[in-house]
Amino acid sequence: MPTRNAQTWREPPKGLRQGEWIDSRIYSDSEIFEEELSKVWKKCWIAVCHESELPEPYDFRTMTIAREPVIVTRGPDKKVRAFLNVCPHRGNMIEMRPSGSFKEGTPSGNPKHMTCMFHAWQFDMKGNCAYISREKEGYQDRLSRKDVGLRKLKCEVYFGGFVWVCLDDEMDMSVAEWGGQAFDCLQKAVDEEPLEVFHYHKAIIPCNYKLWHDTNSEFYHDYLHYHNRITGFNDEYFARKNSSYDNGHVVVGSFKVRYDQYKGFDSRADVSFPHMEENAWYMIDMFPGINFNLRGSALRCDLMTPLGPNEVMIEFRGLGLKSDTPEQREARIEHHNSIWGPFGRNLHEDLIAVSGQGGAMHEMAEPRRILHGRHENHTIHDEVGMRHFYDTWGKMMNRLPSDPTKPYAPPPDDLELEEPVARTA
Ligand code: FES
Ligand SMILES: [Fe+2]
Repeated sequence: MPTRNAQTWREPPKGLRQGEWIDSRIYSDSEIFEEELSKVWKKCWIAVCHESELPEPYDFRTMTIAREPVIVTRGPDKKVRAFLNVCPHRGNMIEMRPSGSFKEGTPSGNPKHMTCMFHAWQFDMKGNCAYISREKEGYQDRLSRKDVGLRKLKCEVYFGGFVWVCLDDEMDMSVAEWGGQAFDCLQKAVDEEPLEVFHYHKAIIPCNYKLWHDTNSEFYHDYLHYHNRITGFNDEYFARKNSSYDNGHVVVGSFKVRYDQYKGFDSRADVSFPHMEENAWYMIDMFPGINFNLRGSALRCDLMTPLGPNEVMIEFRGLGLKSDTPEQREARIEHHNSIWGPFGRNLHEDLIAVSGQGGAMHEMAEPRRILHGRHENHTIHDEVGMRHFYDTWGKMMNRLPSDPTKPYAPPPDDLELEEPVARTA
């Protein structure tokens, strides 16, 4: 049957089984989206920035996780801490700038304090309330400053200096435990010496955040990328492992990229990260939407902030070694931007593709099947990574990804989600 009518279009392909497709409503439904913010995004460790973005005491950066305003500060003791960016007085957002320093103070704020502009309450870098304007006159002795400190959040600096925050005080795993073996392939490369952000841009894309994560974790779409086909498609590329780990994480193993096959590109071996084989390329996709992508000489990190069922903000960072000479840094920037910058060879292609998905999976679109049924012995074009991600998602949401109106149920035993057994390349 060459084409399908309304009924057969809605039916899953006959040869595929539950777990090998998902229902597009999980990308477009507002109720599911709201539920994800509380059941997924508020429950996981989320990387929010890199410590090199707040190098000095009193530096800060602000962001949101699941719509909650968050502020990350570096104290005079150099320690990085995270708080809800919300004033305990009347709930104002305390700091509205994306980044800056509290060291010098502002017209309405004393140096070395976070000051809420509304009624000028002040907080130190540990989140203690340090000053309440006209405290005695208004509260006599009924309110103590120690009862109105900021809401402290779980915060760790881990994996090459990334700052991780978890909104859930009950989270009982460290970032290392939560990421587990998924970190292994790049741990030595990023932890050997301090890293530094050299590139930052962000984009608001009309698609669900999971579609961007899918694109980062499946390589079948290298058919979209002429550059990757030319520099990649060979036996070693097709043997790259696609491995799944506890808590929904996925790793794509390495191979040697032949940059010299593409006109204008050269080997990146001269500025490889520590412990990296020359022109190697690893990708780590952390649940629910954090991506580390190291092409030998430049580390890319995508951090996502879901804004709505069909809207995501993606912050793109490029990182090199803090010890870089100007020449090395220039080489890394060139390597990063020529592929991943806003005008690079690949990034816009991915953005166009997911925008195309978003355009067809908006809230009013009829439900359809999204296929994740490729099996290629856990190699690069096997869609086991996405199957694993959605199984974890289904458990956390207690919804069946292939029919989100039903509660979670495990896929058939022989589907090989690689869960919870970690597989290494
Ligand atoms: S709301 Fe912050 S000082 Fe009043
Ligand atoms: Fe891509």
